[in-house]
Amino acid sequence: MMEALNANNLYCSYGSQSVLKEFNLSLKKGEFAALMGPSGSGKSTFLHVAAGLINADSGEVKVGGEDVLLMSDSAAAKFRRRNIGVVFQGYNLLPSLTVADNIILPSKLDHKSVDKDRLLELIDKLGLKGLEKKLPGELSGGERQRVAIARALYPRPTVILADEPTGNLDVPTSRLICNIFKTLNSSENCAILLVTHDPVVAASASKVHLLKDGRIASSFETLGDPAAISSRYLETYR
Ligand SMILES: Nc1ncnc2c1ncn2[C@@H]1O[C@H](COP(=O)(O)OP(=O)(O)O)[C@@H](O)[C@H]1O
Ligand SMILES: [Mg+2]
Repeated sequence: MMEALNANNLYCSYGSQSVLKEFNLSLKKGEFAALMGPSGSGKSTFLHVAAGLINADSGEVKVGGEDVLLMSDSAAAKFRRRNIGVVFQGYNLLPSLTVADNIILPSKLDHKSVDKDRLLELIDKLGLKGLEKKLPGELSGGERQRVAIARALYPRPTVILADEPTGNLDVPTSRLICNIFKTLNSSENCAILLVTHDPVVAASASKVHLLKDGRIASSFETLGDPAAISSRYLETYR
């Protein structure tokens, strides 16, 4: 089976600081995995490389079998809009656009006509009915994050990359967002790589990868058990 995401012997540095080295990670089609590691370990760096937002020094990152690192900047941007959905902690919505317009923005940039059925389907799935015409500033944090998730899903991407998507949310809202990711993972059959510090959030995923010294030091099945994730985490970083 072709993988949704495959990073192979990836190296990435900022100046003389090497952040990722011999980094390997793969995500099967439709798989939901969490990426964990201490602050500064390179989690966001990997997501940014995978999303084609920054360049790596060497190695490959394949999304649906295509190496994003070999693409020109403009080709990578186009490929990303269609195949990679990115969700950030800070939502990254355009404040002057309505909820509906934020969701369809990436495909507008691709000069595609609006798929109204898809838009309505996502508004429904993410519980955004009645909020379509509101501006991001009129929404709660949890609502904004649901809009950002809908926007990421709209083009039916191969993979969703989510960087601490619950980092700004209170506990109940964070749990709700986790359940949404879990439901969407099966109903949309979309692979998800979710960066988090929270073992409860990570337990929504089926697998956890721990990032240490620039590479994945440990990968294991979560079995939905936050306590087991915590103890593996402490073991790895003690
Ligand atoms: N744009 C950048 N320029 C220089 N150094 C950076 C930049 N982004 C991140 N770093 C450094 O790279 C390391 C990894 O950062 P990051 O990937 O953001 O870690 P994490 O997301 O795991 O907290 C940190 O030491 C950070 O200071
Ligand atoms: Mg980060």
